[in-house]
Amino acid sequence: MSEPVNPFRPTAGAEPPLLVGRAGLLDEFVYGLQIRTGAPGLLTIFTGARGVGKTVMLGEAEDEARRAGWAVISETATRGFLGRIGHMMQPLVEELGNGPPKRKITGLGVAGFSIDTELPPDQQTGWRQLGEELLRLLDAHGTGLAITLDEIHGADRDELAQLAASVQHFIRAGLPVALVFAGLPAAVSDLLDEGVATFLRRADRIDLHVAAIDEVEASYAEVFAAVPGIVSSDLLRMAAEATGGYPFLIQLVGYHLWQVAETAQEPLETQHVQLAVSAARRRNTRMVIGAALAAATPKDMAFLSAMARDNGPSRTADIGYRLDNARNTIGNYRARLIDAGLIESAGHGLVEFAIPGLREHLRS
Ligand SMILES: Nc1ncnc2c1ncn2[C@@H]1O[C@H](COP(=O)(O)OP(=O)(O)OP(=O)(O)O)[C@@H](O)[C@H]1O
Ligand SMILES: [Mg+2]
Repeated sequence: MSEPVNPFRPTAGAEPPLLVGRAGLLDEFVYGLQIRTGAPGLLTIFTGARGVGKTVMLGEAEDEARRAGWAVISETATRGFLGRIGHMMQPLVEELGNGPPKRKITGLGVAGFSIDTELPPDQQTGWRQLGEELLRLLDAHGTGLAITLDEIHGADRDELAQLAASVQHFIRAGLPVALVFAGLPAAVSDLLDEGVATFLRRADRIDLHVAAIDEVEASYAEVFAAVPGIVSSDLLRMAAEATGGYPFLIQLVGYHLWQVAETAQEPLETQHVQLAVSAARRRNTRMVIGAALAAATPKDMAFLSAMARDNGPSRTADIGYRLDNARNTIGNYRARLIDAGLIESAGHGLVEFAIPGLREHLRS
């Protein structure tokens, strides 16, 4: 028998061997797929810090939709996403309607929808007609269309407003459409506040957090059962604790531990786990922390560094004192950093880092 290959997936958006700590989160969405139109779960927004598993949840939603027989269009909200969605709707209409669209679609030249800007008015009309035709065809089959849109923090506001307006129109017409978004908490709060798409306020907002250590441990026990006798339950516990329940670290620690186990080929010792954990942390720092801090301003950095002096949650009052700043300025930075997914509220007057390893990184 060949050796089982490393099942962990420490890569952005990759489906993990086991989805830890997400039980029940898609129940409303799945329920909505049965109702097919107008159900609250059909409009869902996942938010959360980097690496917490937003893209993976979109993938899960897509799987559920396909399982229910729905058509799925999966996009990332970089400029031109609306046109790209339109391009993906076209072949679906042709396939389901046994040929080119029955009605003439407005504004569609040879090139079809523009995919590097928001849509000009005639293409917007065409997009809506095409969408409506597709949804009617799917409706006749007793299914619908699920659109997932990742990274909405990068979305062009006008484009997003266009998408929202059309989807709202479909919903009002009783058509079977689902829209699942994912983005950093900042983007979503802003979008909802700016009124880019008021109807999005009615979406189910699901904020993703770290998983419980016990659940991480249980998942490791299940996955490492494929190589019995190599990693003791004490060491699995130790590895689970080192992840802090953070999904990206669950994959990284699992991956490196598996690698160490492959090389060792005998029951592991404490130092093997330590080796795997430090390799995982180094990679996490490079990949997640680097990306998360890329957009931070010098003042953001000063706030974060002031926090890093504490060993646990920081009191905002202390940070103000350390930075010699007025309370309202501190309040503004606190809100900005929470929105950026870098820190989290930890109770009244307290904040803590939302990304594991960030404190250590700032200290070094
Ligand atoms: N519930 C989970 N259990 C175990 N591992 C998970 C879970 N969710 C995500 N992961 C893993 O965590 C990593 C990051 O997941 P994902 O790319 O979905 O995060 P994200 O929130 O979209 O990150 P970003 O903000 O950088 O886009 C991946 O390696 C993925 O396999
Ligand atoms: Mg993602």
